[in-house]
Amino acid sequence: MHTLHVDLGERSYPIYIGRDLLRDPSLIARHIRGSQVVLVSNDTVAPLYLDHLKACLGERGLVTEVILPDGERYKTLESYTRILDRVMTDRHSRTTTMIALGGGVIGDITGFAAASYQRGVNFIQVPTTLLSQVDSSVGGKTAVNHPLGKNMIGAFYQPVAVVIDIATLATLPPREFAAGLAEVVKYGLICDAPFYTWLRENMPKLLAREEAALAEAVERSCANKAAVVAEDERESGLRAILNLGHTFGHAIETAQGYGEWLHGEAVAAGMALAMEMSARRGWLAMAEVDSFRSLLRTMGLPERPPADISPAQFIDLMGRDKKVVDGSLRLVLLRAIGQACVVDDATEQELHALLGGG
Ligand code: NAD
Ligand code: GLY
Repeated sequence: MHTLHVDLGERSYPIYIGRDLLRDPSLIARHIRGSQVVLVSNDTVAPLYLDHLKACLGERGLVTEVILPDGERYKTLESYTRILDRVMTDRHSRTTTMIALGGGVIGDITGFAAASYQRGVNFIQVPTTLLSQVDSSVGGKTAVNHPLGKNMIGAFYQPVAVVIDIATLATLPPREFAAGLAEVVKYGLICDAPFYTWLRENMPKLLAREEAALAEAVERSCANKAAVVAEDERESGLRAILNLGHTFGHAIETAQGYGEWLHGEAVAAGMALAMEMSARRGWLAMAEVDSFRSLLRTMGLPERPPADISPAQFIDLMGRDKKVVDGSLRLVLLRAIGQACVVDDATEQELHALLGGG
């Protein structure tokens, strides 16, 4: 097992990474303060892993299980209320501990419930998708969706521990696995060129889900995310680089209606666009963009957006993104591999040329 630390003063916490950590009774138990626990999962993950987690808890006075239906469409205020209803009915006190077992959807909803129940209770993340292990479980962003916008209702609320059992990745469907890999590669592109080189060399092992390679990829991703979050917890500057490809990606997701392409798939095509835009500005070689596109093909991820989104529609949708600040579109580009920057000077003409292939 390897342990990383997210360094946030009195809100610092460990990230444990290893195999079969869900079978280690000492690990999770040491972060539970009182005798009360709330386990939140969904109806896909619970049958696979909830019993392991329960076996780790030891004797507790009160354990409440909340099993939500699976899917992004249930990342709602209704699901959040369902957790709080159970917690209130079972009379959990301020010393209770909420544990999220699942992917980013469960982690984000549970985190928001933990942030707001009695103004904040102990919270542990047990992420079970690759995306949630390398991204959403670390850094304290919690949220539910509003019908008018994704992740629009939420809070910054850090967990007291993140427990990453890489053995859980064995059951992840291939598309979900590939979508998580997109976020792994993102760290190499934005801030860790040696990691990008390592990923290109080790992609066959990762795609074969070899555990040693997976553990290393998860650890290096979490280390990069922890470093960025430690420097800019509330996204007032640096943390924005974590959004490489996301503004393009959100436009793809919105154009298609959420659910057709997975988030990581849209981000993959978005990162290729951001790299091509960087190359058109002379910051990257076009050969680096081509080689990234070829890596995406190997990973089974889309290298271009769907052909049926016109440049005008694309630009309109990008203008509605959360990353628009005071009317100007902020995009993450690359000055070089491993060196992201945020720009707010993209012109419509530049975007038209990029998206229209002109
Ligand atoms: P998800 O939570 O929907 O999980 C994907 C699918 O995999 C689901 O069907 C889930 O039930 C299933 N699953 C989970 N673990 C499994 C396992 N071990 N074996 C088999 N199936 C398993 O999606 P996700 O990609 O994990 O997360 C996406 C969510 O994360 C989005 O809502 C997004 O907004 C959010 N997110 C949050 C942050 C953040 O910083 N908080 C960052 C990125 C994404
Ligand atoms: N996933 C982006 C962030 O955590 O800031």
